[in-house]
Amino acid sequence: MTWLEGTVIENRHWSEALFSLRVEAPALVFQAGQFVRIALDIDGERVARPFSFVNPPQDPVLEFYGIVVPEGPLSPRLERLRAGERLYVASNPAGFLVLAEVPDAETLWLVSTGTGIAPYLSILRTEAPWQRFRNVVLVHAVRYSKELVYREVIGKIPNLRYVTFVSREAHPGSLAGRIPAAIRDGRLEAAAGAALSAESSHVMLCGNPQMLKDATAALAERGMRKHRRRNPGHITVESFW
Ligand SMILES: Cc1cc2nc3c(=O)[nH]c(=O)nc-3n(C[C@H](O)[C@H](O)[C@H](O)COP(=O)(O)OP(=O)(O)OC[C@H]3O[C@@H](n4cnc5c(N)ncnc54)[C@H](O)[C@@H]3O)c2cc1C
Ligand SMILES: NC(=O)c1ccc[n+]([C@@H]2O[C@H](COP(=O)([O-])OP(=O)(O)OC[C@H]3O[C@@H](n4cnc5c(N)ncnc54)[C@H](OP(=O)(O)O)[C@@H]3O)[C@@H](O)[C@H]2O)c1
Repeated sequence: MTWLEGTVIENRHWSEALFSLRVEAPALVFQAGQFVRIALDIDGERVARPFSFVNPPQDPVLEFYGIVVPEGPLSPRLERLRAGERLYVASNPAGFLVLAEVPDAETLWLVSTGTGIAPYLSILRTEAPWQRFRNVVLVHAVRYSKELVYREVIGKIPNLRYVTFVSREAHPGSLAGRIPAAIRDGRLEAAAGAALSAESSHVMLCGNPQMLKDATAALAERGMRKHRRRNPGHITVESFW
């Protein structure tokens, strides 16, 4: 692994805590859904964290979507980067939240909390989901409606079924509460207009590790289990912390 130098082209702020970095860097080969470590030198040490690519692989400008964790060492500094400033990008993208690891199904569910939407924005802008699945559902759960980011990008993706949750304020058009409860009581299926079953579905889960556990438990009640290469199943997960 080597470190590549990247230059920030834009740091878009969606709210005081949410930002998207667009970065010019030497070309990287990766699959939609993968992540790469990005880094800054802080007090003489290189501090690196994994970030999922938001851009699809064919887009030469790298894009990352982040949240400020106030006590975290890296994210508050990434949020303050301005156009023209440097950061480092590792040369070795990685990760298994990719469609090449997902078996065929009628419906693909891309389920996220918070910044966990990032890898799906890359996947959805490739051809594979549209060639392989009859229905594609993007689920995004956030605390407040201002965190429903990338709506313009999402709105331009034909045939996508987009279901949102806003948990800490009332928001017309979004479901209230949390994903696992809505899996159990059928509200998620009703909102998506698609069945969520072992026979019909593959579910990718990304974001808050507790959501991954709770959603996996709710899906297990529907006879769904984690997918492994040697023991095919219906759930693929990526935890962000
Ligand atoms: C495979 C992978 C992909 C990732 N992709 C992204 C991404 O695309 N965007 C992104 O913002 N982060 C992503 N992360 C998390 C990211 O690597 C950092 O942990 C995060 O930016 C905070 O960095 P930090 O150094 O400030 O704090 P850290 O010391 O890394 O984290 C401190 C604490 O902050 C909380 N936290 C960390 N990340 C998040 C988050 N994303 N949302 C809410 N709370 C969080 C957790 O409680 C964690 O223990 C990813 C992590 C992994 C493992
Ligand atoms: N700097 C700032 O100003 C600022 C502002 C906001 C956040 N932050 C940082 O960002 C972190 C929070 O990030 P976030 O809001 O993206 O993440 P989050 O806490 O994971 O919340 C995102 C969504 O996931 C839901 N969720 C949480 N646990 C779940 C579970 N077990 N099952 C199902 N759904 C679950 C939340 O619902 P609930 O609402 O019901 O929990 C919410 O709808 C904070 O810890 C803080 O460090 C910083």
